[in-house]
Amino acid sequence: MVKFADIKGFIFDLDGVIADTSSFHTTAWHQLADKVGAPWSQELEDGLKGISRMDSLEMILNAGGLSNNYTDEEKQALAEEKNTNYLALVDQMTPADIFPGVKEFLESLEDNHYKISLASASKNGPRVLAKLGLTDYFPNVVDPSTLMKGKPDPEIYIKGAEILGLKPEECIGIEDAAAGIEAINAANETSIGIGSKQLLSEADMVFANTEELTLDNIKANMN
Ligand code: BG6
Ligand code: MG
Repeated sequence: MVKFADIKGFIFDLDGVIADTSSFHTTAWHQLADKVGAPWSQELEDGLKGISRMDSLEMILNAGGLSNNYTDEEKQALAEEKNTNYLALVDQMTPADIFPGVKEFLESLEDNHYKISLASASKNGPRVLAKLGLTDYFPNVVDPSTLMKGKPDPEIYIKGAEILGLKPEECIGIEDAAAGIEAINAANETSIGIGSKQLLSEADMVFANTEELTLDNIKANMN
């Protein structure tokens, strides 16, 4: 692992790291799976985390052997319907929904002159940040519509370092999903998992929740 002293930037996932929007995605996808008659499982739920909208839809349809039952236009309409249901939940959020410790962590990063970027697969990232009152912390957001490949491909985390003018080795990526940790590791950055040690076993370090996400705790895990 690189040394803490070499770190210059932090690249954040959004859903499930900054706020509980991951559960909103789950709710909206589960609703859609029920509608099309695809079976839901814990494995599918975990596997969808970090995955782009259209790839998520394919995974759900495949779970029910339904992928060939829909045209591309019908798939677009299904994804749009899920997004409408998801946004209805997002629009109820306020800054009180930021996960505990996240704002304090962002402030400590600014105080210590670290660079910050967002590497969320979500096209709704800027809208979620606005609802949470966090837009000003994230002048650098990777636009997921510019990506050739979604997580677990490293592209989004490589771009997350590039927009900061940093080398991947100088960056730490923070994720709640196994696909995201895989992406960070493949980008040659240091990975922090937030959540279950079992699900995020490939991460360089795992914190159970965002309250534990502090520069002191990260430093203690690196030196
Ligand atoms: C990721 C979420 O951050 O964004 C996934 O973990 C979601 O669950 C993906 O499917 C795409 O989000 P959106 O908002 O563009 O549909
Ligand atoms: Mg996430």
